[in-house]
Amino acid sequence: MNWDDESAPVTTGDGDRLVEAAADGEDRAVEAALRPKDLGEFVGQERVREQLDLVLKAARARGATADHVLLSGAPGLGKTTLSMIIAAEMGAPIRITSGPAIQHAGDLAAILSSLTEGEVLFLDEIHRMSRPAEEMLYMAMEDFRVDVIVGKGPGATAIPLELPPFTLVGATTRAGLLPPPLRDRFGFTGHMEFYAPLELQRVIHRSARLLGVEMEEAGAAEIAGRSRGTPRIANRLLRRVRDYAQVKADGVVTQEIAAQALQVYEVDARGLDRLDRAVLGALLKLFGGGPVGLSTLAVAVGEERETVEEVAEPFLVREGLLARTPRGRVATPAAWAHLGLTPPGQGSTGPGQQGLFDR
Ligand SMILES: Nc1ncnc2c1ncn2[C@@H]1O[C@H](COP(=O)(O)OP(=O)(O)O)[C@@H](O)[C@H]1O
Ligand SMILES: [Mg+2]
Repeated sequence: MNWDDESAPVTTGDGDRLVEAAADGEDRAVEAALRPKDLGEFVGQERVREQLDLVLKAARARGATADHVLLSGAPGLGKTTLSMIIAAEMGAPIRITSGPAIQHAGDLAAILSSLTEGEVLFLDEIHRMSRPAEEMLYMAMEDFRVDVIVGKGPGATAIPLELPPFTLVGATTRAGLLPPPLRDRFGFTGHMEFYAPLELQRVIHRSARLLGVEMEEAGAAEIAGRSRGTPRIANRLLRRVRDYAQVKADGVVTQEIAAQALQVYEVDARGLDRLDRAVLGALLKLFGGGPVGLSTLAVAVGEERETVEEVAEPFLVREGLLARTPRGRVATPAAWAHLGLTPPGQGSTGPGQQGLFDR
């Protein structure tokens, strides 16, 4: 099994954006090197870990192939890592692909028919698979069989093909988008939660040890607090802090060094980055806290609508800084406090312009 080869396209989304300019080949390789290799090394997610442990142990005891597993959760929480751990715990090889990579049912048929007995098939972003492929997958999951269609039009015939038993591990950022027939065919669904700061601290310590970075407890806590509950972000911030500590100090990551470094990379004490603060700043300073329409807000920060909606907003909403309402985006009192501004009517900020541009 090759831990470093993640052939699936890298997911982009909330968790993947931070310091993305720096997410080069070296970083990708480091990320792979930091992946926990068994359940014991996997930090946090107690419930999923315990449940999965039972599923895998029972399958091993029966000498059977493990049931299909669905992992859902935000980017960077450990879905890919867990799929590799499942294969490792079962002593099985793993094949990695993704929904968007499977355009035609034939692509899936080719992959399925080349699986060996007990192999783990990791299907990332499973909600983005094409319809015909999805229907083929139903049968493969349930009966370990596919119908390969030969020919076209009225003369086309379906040739049934037996598959060896395999374990499908599906990953999705949006379990809600999966059609129920697909969801129901998984024997086990693990929902990954955001990590608590103390858990991220453990992730950071572990990674620091693997990278040979000298890390003080308070330094790890500082990074953890800015990592948005996401191990991938914690690891990325750690690498940037390491760079800073090497160049500007003696390499030891103290709380002060971590805070200074992350200020340089424009990651604030709550984990907001430049884009998040731009969105929030525009909402407060230009639109008096809203409500303001998404398109207007996007134009104000010079970004695509989708970028604001899919990249910045989920975290701002989760942090209770922004609310999506039918009339538009609205800042919460916490948003004013976070940017150190005073809401209109309570002091000295400029005039609110809500309703001027749209909705
Ligand atoms: N529970 C965990 N413990 C330690 N490191 C983790 C954990 N979950 C994720 N990571 C780290 O975070 C990074 C991203 O994890 P990944 O499995 O690629 O997330 P996802 O597939 O959900 O987007 C990996 O490099 C991995 O080292
Ligand atoms: Mg992944």
